[in-house]
Amino acid sequence: MNPVKAVIFDLDGVIVDTAHYHFLAWKRLAKELGVDLTEQQNERLKGVSRMRSLEIILSLGGITLSDHEKEKMANRKNSWFVDYVERMAPEEIFPGVKQLIHELKGKGIKIGLASASKNAKTVIQLLHIQNEFDAVVDGTMITHSKPHPEIFLLAAHKLGVEPKDCVVFEDAEAGVEAALAAGMKCVGVGSSEQLHKANKVISKTGEFKISALEEFQV
Ligand code: G6P
Ligand code: MG
Repeated sequence: MNPVKAVIFDLDGVIVDTAHYHFLAWKRLAKELGVDLTEQQNERLKGVSRMRSLEIILSLGGITLSDHEKEKMANRKNSWFVDYVERMAPEEIFPGVKQLIHELKGKGIKIGLASASKNAKTVIQLLHIQNEFDAVVDGTMITHSKPHPEIFLLAAHKLGVEPKDCVVFEDAEAGVEAALAAGMKCVGVGSSEQLHKANKVISKTGEFKISALEEFQV
């Protein structure tokens, strides 16, 4: 039996509810474009890059924009997102997450962060958890968005651990697919309907009991 050697966390929606701030900012931009973005449609934006998210919204509205206009729209959304995030308090970290990280470390398990967000480093600094991770991969370091496995493979490489020995925590369908495509196990955080491809689904990150890692031994 091979024990789990690393746990890689997504950020938005797994460590903190910044997924909601992304939604609010996208909804505001979509409204300006005449699109009423629903929570269900927003599921498709989770885990994917900023530009890809905008393209999904544009396709929902049947809207075509030039690259220059797209760039302007994406920047607008980002400035609103950054405004929300800058008002965030460190206490907004989801309950039980820090304790989970400490328990995992106590078992000698390495901790990684793999977020497609270019704001990931700012967010973990605001939460005062930047020193908790043995490796951080964010949206500035990757070419392909989730569901492509690149982000998780890079995280495993930086951690010095083989993909098969990693467990990923993800709230996005695209993220679950990326983790599985990387040859890792995946704990889905959210609805079991949405995240049915994950090896296990919990409704909140803090609910996870580390004894459950035994289920992932290969
Ligand atoms: C994560 C979030 C997405 C977000 C993406 C890009 O994957 O789940 O909702 O769009 O990061 O974030 P950024 O902060 O770079 O716009
Ligand atoms: Mg997420």
